[in-house]
Amino acid sequence: TQLEKFVDELPDMPRIQGFDVVNGVPKPKFLNIGMFMKKWKFHRDLRPTPVFAYGTSKHTASVPGPTIEALHGIDTYVTWQNHLPSKHILPWDPTILTAVPSTKKGIPTVVHLHGAIDEPASDGNPNSWFTVGFEEKGPTWSRKTYHYRNLQQPGNLWYHDHAMGLTRVNLLAGLNGAYIIRDHDLEAPLQLPSGDEFDRPLIVFDRSFRTDGTIYMNSTGNNPSIHPQWRPEYFGDTIIVNGKVWPRMTVRRRKYRFRILNACNARYLRLFFTNGLAFTHVASDSAYLEEPVMTNDTLLAPSEIADVVIDFSKSKTDFAILANDARYPYPSGHPVSEANGKIMKFIIQKNQESESWRVPSKLIKYPSPDLSSGLDTRYIAMYQYISDINKSTHFYINGKSYEEAVTESPVVGSTEVWNVINLTPDNHPFHIHLGLFAVLDQTELVERVEFKTCMIKLNDAIECHISNYARGKKIEVPAHEKGWKNVYKILPGYVTKILVRFAYIHSNVPYPFDATEEPGYVYHCHILGHEDNEMMRPLKLINKVE
Ligand code: C2O
Ligand code: CU
Repeated sequence: TQLEKFVDELPDMPRIQGFDVVNGVPKPKFLNIGMFMKKWKFHRDLRPTPVFAYGTSKHTASVPGPTIEALHGIDTYVTWQNHLPSKHILPWDPTILTAVPSTKKGIPTVVHLHGAIDEPASDGNPNSWFTVGFEEKGPTWSRKTYHYRNLQQPGNLWYHDHAMGLTRVNLLAGLNGAYIIRDHDLEAPLQLPSGDEFDRPLIVFDRSFRTDGTIYMNSTGNNPSIHPQWRPEYFGDTIIVNGKVWPRMTVRRRKYRFRILNACNARYLRLFFTNGLAFTHVASDSAYLEEPVMTNDTLLAPSEIADVVIDFSKSKTDFAILANDARYPYPSGHPVSEANGKIMKFIIQKNQESESWRVPSKLIKYPSPDLSSGLDTRYIAMYQYISDINKSTHFYINGKSYEEAVTESPVVGSTEVWNVINLTPDNHPFHIHLGLFAVLDQTELVERVEFKTCMIKLNDAIECHISNYARGKKIEVPAHEKGWKNVYKILPGYVTKILVRFAYIHSNVPYPFDATEEPGYVYHCHILGHEDNEMMRPLKLINKVE
């Protein structure tokens, strides 16, 4: 049975201020946010679904969690608390590298603020997990309260679980939410649509449900004699926005700003409006663009964010469906169905409204990537690894498991060129903690099989003469993705060249924290089944050696 589309109103998640105001002056704030098991109503005709939800209380906890609104330069402290039961609501797999409490009781969780620039101990390292009441803790756990300085550029972040080997199931269960950093001095003059009515996060993910309302996840691995449960990708057959299946929203005939997050485990979304309405991009991931860019569609990999203005006054019809036509897995899997090709419906009121919001011709200019010589260069290769010993499959990066010694150790304050080589047939969303990057270009690899054979043997792009192979077609980065990003789509069969900055993008002020401390950061693929099976490596910053 199919759930009826566009019957539930689009909710706005509860908003929490990440700051206090004392006598008109913003001050740091301490928040307590818990993870609770509760039931969530995803659709009018679906029985309530057991979920894991973030919230300040069990009663207010929601899926997605509350939207945290922080102010640039004002500290937000969050004590993330695990109130989850002893058993998971979804199947997981002990044959991949996974956090397991010694008592076998309790669900390991740890929160990562995606896009944040903060010290390692507040970054949510996969091994810094903890269970209910902090009863058990992972090997790198060090503190209960995370410190978010909000010193970076204004923009869109999101928080989600990151526990080792459990990220895919903890997110599927509901552990994600939006986090916005605002900077009124910089943003108010832009006069973009603002306020709770006209500036709204849209958090999109796919899920499948059983008729009793529970989340359905295939509990048999695709290679079950080796990995009884693990599958590389999860795809659900319904699309959920802000916690409702195929919702609808009645909008006024004027401009709105939507911060659209692809929070799917594995599904790419190529969004477009059925009536041809355009997207005007003002930011990508967590930073503003220099100038707005108009597009008719927008491709979002898991964890990418499109921050767009939609001008409903331009609509020739009185409704518009936000749709998706990205194949899954992307780019060469199944075509979308009638169901998973729809996202939500906008019902547009008849009366044209006058408004003072606008899209300025200039947004915010950050220093552009400096390509001056002497930058350290790295090669990051993605390919499937099949162990000779037990035939287990892993999505290792550079042929290395997560636990092998650190190989990426940039200097604090430096900029590096990373060449990300994709030797698999699928696209992978590549995400680096702490570092913001600009994508320079994507170059096709010719005679890829030969190169791949060499890489599997030597695992060294230079020794395998990458320059002889990276000479095919060049793909330009689309204009709306030329800004500073924290995740990007790595094309299969291509080398994607990115310039990563391990410093703020808006100032040359060094980090006011020790980025070199334990346990360091990570970088990984943001398809969660890949990340959980070690398409993830440690990233440890070092101080310059004089
Ligand atoms: Cu959004 Cu390391 O993750
Ligand atoms: Cu991947």
